[in-house]
Amino acid sequence: MQTVLVLSGPNLSRLGSREPDVYGGATLADIAAQCAAVGRELGLKVDFRQTDDEAELVGWVHEAVDGRLPIVLNPAAFTHYSYALRDALAMRTAPLIEVHLSNPATREAFRHNSVVAGVATGTVAGFGALSYQLALRAVAALCLPTPGSPTPGSPTQGPQAPAGAERS
Ligand code: DQA
Repeated sequence: MQTVLVLSGPNLSRLGSREPDVYGGATLADIAAQCAAVGRELGLKVDFRQTDDEAELVGWVHEAVDGRLPIVLNPAAFTHYSYALRDALAMRTAPLIEVHLSNPATREAFRHNSVVAGVATGTVAGFGALSYQLALRAVAALCLPTPGSPTPGSPTQGPQAPAGAERS
């Protein structure tokens, strides 16, 4: 089964009591349980982790790079200034979906820039806890074979896609 790392950065362990008007009432444990359930539905093994420590987060990204694992990442405040995290993510070997509970574009000016976005496959922001679930669906769409579609290179493969149509 395809493993996906679902990583959350600093202060996200405080969800539930942290600014609920901004981040909602769900705890990180609630979000972990939702991700596990969506993972079971999609056929993804969800490895859910949180840290307040930039070095630990960078180490987990290295693990994903080496294991060719997709990442769903809420970098929290690191989003806005951690070039160390961005440099680690730039080495990615599988899709990276950046997620945010809130929509940083509607908030303080310092949240408008993401140093992660430029190396991500895409970003899901503003849907509360649902952002994580939508990101997992994106990973499934990008990483899991579509039921009924031929395996590339198999004798039953259909017409070739036009040149340049490959998905990275
Ligand atoms: C956040 C948005 C960030 O700006 C903030 O620093 C966070 C949470 C979000 O999920 O909305 O800690 O990443």
